[in-house]
Amino acid sequence: MPNLFDSYQLKSVTLRNRIGVSPMCQYSSDDGMANDWHLVHLGARAVGGAGLIIAEATAVEPRGRITPYDAGIWSDEHVEPLYRINKFIKEHGAVPGIQLAHAGRKASAARPWSGDNHLNDSEGGWQTIGASSIAFDPEHLWKVPHEMTCEDIQFVKEAFRTAAIRSREAGYDWLELHFAHGYLVHSFYSPLSNKRTDEYGGSFENRIRLALEITETVREVWSEDLPLTVRLSCSDWVEGGWTIEDSVQLSSKLKAAGVDLIDCSSGFNTPDYKKYPFGASWQVPFSEKIRSEANIATACVGSITNAMQADEIIRNNRADIVLLAREMLRDPYWPYRAAQELHAKIQTLPIQYGSRI
Ligand SMILES: Cc1cc2nc3c(=O)[nH]c(=O)nc-3n(C[C@H](O)[C@H](O)[C@H](O)COP(=O)(O)O)c2cc1C
Repeated sequence: MPNLFDSYQLKSVTLRNRIGVSPMCQYSSDDGMANDWHLVHLGARAVGGAGLIIAEATAVEPRGRITPYDAGIWSDEHVEPLYRINKFIKEHGAVPGIQLAHAGRKASAARPWSGDNHLNDSEGGWQTIGASSIAFDPEHLWKVPHEMTCEDIQFVKEAFRTAAIRSREAGYDWLELHFAHGYLVHSFYSPLSNKRTDEYGGSFENRIRLALEITETVREVWSEDLPLTVRLSCSDWVEGGWTIEDSVQLSSKLKAAGVDLIDCSSGFNTPDYKKYPFGASWQVPFSEKIRSEANIATACVGSITNAMQADEIIRNNRADIVLLAREMLRDPYWPYRAAQELHAKIQTLPIQYGSRI
């Protein structure tokens, strides 16, 4: 029976434990560039003992940023500062991962601390793109996206391809495709936001086409022996929307296309998130179901805050790794505390701390 502090191997990559830092936007880049904030933010969590550190949603093209301050990897200039961070993360025993993203109709927004709303072009915003010309909501993310043509789709697939090549050059060993939270690819697979009448809309097979095509494009260039993973919104939590059964089916197809692990999140393709059943481990049942029914490795996320809770998930095979987001902001050293509580050893403590704790 595995436990939270057992190592975990996926393809050629071994995590020192089953604890991952969930991707978290920092909205602190100029022109998508990483800087000292990212080094300290991510580096602290590597020193803090996590096995996997997934960097924030990183835009594959400028239009795909949620805000003008998002991280990006659409040019060669982005590579070097990311490489520096990843070198540091590896020196401290963690595996650096990247989350490649395109925000679709939710792009062109202000940062959370500036209100989160869509920006007019005069405020630094831009024309968004999406599956169909349907705004996310009338008040906050009100921009009507341009319905993507086949040329637009081709352009975005190529952007994912070059982003994946640059991710490797930047030293990432783990690649996650962000297909969740109402962003571009989720807006295609969900029937709530996709009203297309071409081969990318209508039936389930058509709505998941973009997800599969991006996956195949990335798998062609992302080394076969490195993990390729996908974050899904496993349910829209809305009558008539995307369901967990759809996610099981999509996960099987993603596995066949070369995906190694599904990161199981949910929601955020509609504004009514207040109806979600938030609570301890609230999304873990999605991970459990996909893991057993699609027969693929999973990560789970959502309100995982204490050691026993995380350990229980691993021991009962409800996920292969647990991801923590807000709790890791509260405490980058969470893995040390969890190890203390569970009487486990962190194998690779920084030498400066190692003999003292
Ligand atoms: C500050 C912040 C930024 C986030 N940015 C991202 C992101 O870039 N990509 C993503 O998939 N999820 C993002 N999320 C969602 C988290 O990865 C995670 O799924 C969610 O917070 C639930 O986990 P938690 O209960 O441990 O916080 C973000 C969450 C927070 C708090």
